[in-house]
Amino acid sequence: MSGSPIYESKNSFYVVICWILAACGGLMFGYDIGISGGVTAMDDFLIKFFPKVHERKMHAKEDNYCKYDDQFLQLFTSSLYLAALVSSFAASKVCTKFGRKPTILAASLVFLAGAGLSASAQKLYMLIIGRVLLGIGVGFGNEAVPLFLSEIAPVQRRGAINIIFQLLVTVGIFMANLVNYGTSKMHPHGWRLSLGLAGVPALMLFIGSLIITETPASLIKRGKESLGHTTLQRIRGVEDVEAEFQQIVKASEIARGVKHPFKELMKRSSRPPLVIAVALQVFQQFTGINAIMFYAPVLFQTVGFKSDASLLSSVITGIVNVFGTLVSLATVDKFGRRILLLQACLQMLICQIVIGVILQVYLHATDSLTKPQAIWVVILVCFYVLAFAWSWGPLGWLIPSETFPLETRTLGYAFAVSSNMFCTFIIAQAFLSMLCGMRAMIFFFFAAWIVLMGVFVLLFLPETKNVPIDAMAHTVWYKHHYWKRFMVDEN
Ligand code: BGC
Repeated sequence: MSGSPIYESKNSFYVVICWILAACGGLMFGYDIGISGGVTAMDDFLIKFFPKVHERKMHAKEDNYCKYDDQFLQLFTSSLYLAALVSSFAASKVCTKFGRKPTILAASLVFLAGAGLSASAQKLYMLIIGRVLLGIGVGFGNEAVPLFLSEIAPVQRRGAINIIFQLLVTVGIFMANLVNYGTSKMHPHGWRLSLGLAGVPALMLFIGSLIITETPASLIKRGKESLGHTTLQRIRGVEDVEAEFQQIVKASEIARGVKHPFKELMKRSSRPPLVIAVALQVFQQFTGINAIMFYAPVLFQTVGFKSDASLLSSVITGIVNVFGTLVSLATVDKFGRRILLLQACLQMLICQIVIGVILQVYLHATDSLTKPQAIWVVILVCFYVLAFAWSWGPLGWLIPSETFPLETRTLGYAFAVSSNMFCTFIIAQAFLSMLCGMRAMIFFFFAAWIVLMGVFVLLFLPETKNVPIDAMAHTVWYKHHYWKRFMVDEN
């Protein structure tokens, strides 16, 4: 956006390390997303915790669309998101009071405990408590990491740096798919290894949290101005950071004057970033991506692949997901956010509709697709994942992290995180039942959402590329054809 200042910066080795270490929070989140689908498709796991589901699965001529529909099985996947939803608000308080770095540290520790408990679970309740701990870790990590990355990134590369988080989410999902592919052959405890290896990314984040810096904005807002100044010099790699420093000081003064962030966030003038943050996260989930991510092996079995082949297909979608995110990382600060989101809507819409038609016409309750038909479904799923990966995936986290002013940033972002988790929970909990009830129509359901989100971007989402975070209100909201009417009561 023209007229906004671009501050000088050079990347030092240390700052690059900070980006990567903090982004390990993404690895933790991604591993978790990817692991549960494969684990819930493993017979040993089902026999131990969900014997009824296993029995149903073994039944010959079982209905394709309904064989995995079990509320408890879905609760295993989705309990994590419920815990993350609630804990993101607690995380926002820790983030405000103590900073981004301790919040990231806490995330890694709780997550480690969760990984240990779920891997060693003997009873269903232990499994669920383990998932809840993992969820708290995710809530803390997803609150603090994207904010951390956006705050330490130089403005002209903020998109790319923030997207390292999502890149590691996709790497985590991919690793989990590979792990499941291997452990599904280790009887009877392969699933324990799958769940326990979640400790690896958590350990990486833990080490990272000891090494990374605190962000200048968080330091300055908490009254540590001179440390904030030297940190800014250090992460920018230049001596003269005066202009940017002053901008953060100004933002911090305003922020310190706000005693009740919640009241501030409910004001009319906070509406633009709040509505956008929540909408982007809700839409991100209603692309239907997690129907694919969690249940890819189950879904591919539904369209007629054998257990092994279906895990392999989800490994393929995992690779595509990583690749698409790299495309986003390379283009987001050049092309901007809007164009990526809009292009992806079109691509995802076409894929969803064609998949829906293939399943509607060819996949009935008890038969299966022919090999070529099933391969077409996998190819279409790959194109769909590709589009998501360069758009709604990363930008759902990026845009909310760069649009709130300092006074409402952590709380506003918690609304974004919790909306994501809430919708992820809904999808995780409901998808298998929806698949059973709606059958192929489920793809048309998600397609309708994609139309809605495209319209939202066209009308309500301003471009935020190259705008300093702390100059967002004046550079973006005051000038936007729709949102400017919400800014009139501000001075
Ligand atoms: C979403 C996850 C999703 C993942 C897929 C993330 O941005 O929040 O729900 O599973 O992308 O790559």
